[in-house]
Amino acid sequence: MILFFSASGNTRYIASLLAEALDDECLDLNERIRTHDYSPVCSEKPFVICTPVYVCEMPRFLHEYIKRLPFRGNRNVYYIFTSGGYAGIAGTLARSMTRKKDMIYKGHAEIKMPTNHIVSDAYPPTEPDECRKRIAEAEKRIPDIAETIMSGGKLRARYVFLFEKLIILPFNPIWVRYKQPSKDFYTTDKCVGCGKCSRLCPVNNIVMENKRPVWQAPCAHCMACILNCPFEAIEYGNITQKKDKYNIKKYVK
Ligand SMILES: Cc1cc2nc3c(=O)[nH]c(=O)nc-3n(C[C@H](O)[C@H](O)[C@H](O)COP(=O)(O)O)c2cc1C
Repeated sequence: MILFFSASGNTRYIASLLAEALDDECLDLNERIRTHDYSPVCSEKPFVICTPVYVCEMPRFLHEYIKRLPFRGNRNVYYIFTSGGYAGIAGTLARSMTRKKDMIYKGHAEIKMPTNHIVSDAYPPTEPDECRKRIAEAEKRIPDIAETIMSGGKLRARYVFLFEKLIILPFNPIWVRYKQPSKDFYTTDKCVGCGKCSRLCPVNNIVMENKRPVWQAPCAHCMACILNCPFEAIEYGNITQKKDKYNIKKYVK
């Protein structure tokens, strides 16, 4: 079973390609996370958890969800991380969590995709040509990854140095706490009050008031709201007005 969370479609796309290659089912975790649905997931085939990387780790809300989620059937777990190019210590933390759940960590793959963190100037947006290139290269990796999983082998990714762990472990919570305010999100007059942003928010952070979204805290900065708005009516401070609202739907069917 392939489980995934995706805000702007990169991870959803990779999960769907893997599901096809493995002839396995795909489960979108967004609704389950939103509704605190902890009903067990059951599979005879290995579990493959596909997730974006946020600040060098798996998103915290997803980590907390997987930690509590009961897994039945197969005991093997693979992770697939999509990122803008640096997955940090995501694999290290996933391995530790998997072992604590008494399951077998079968390794992970890191897949470079277009960057979706458009509200931060720390990550420059990926240019359209580069988006196409990264997506095409990611597609080419799927058969090998699928074959390793099907044969019960171990996925191997790059070595994580001790200094990375020492820097990222304290850095992530500080960044999440101080660099992810939601107060800068707002809608322009293109907003029709459809509420899609509110329905997509994995941490239930957006409430509709007078047919307009209002962002509360704490925000995961996942970008699901701003990058899925059908009218591109959401902006963030003065950072996003001139930036493309990336969504993989602009590149693949
Ligand atoms: C809050 C946030 C933090 C991110 N941090 C990183 C990071 O540390 N390293 C990196 O390479 N990409 C980072 N990214 C980029 C995403 O991991 C990448 O674009 C991912 O493929 C998005 O997946 P999705 O389209 O399935 O949501 C970050 C994105 C967000 C929204």
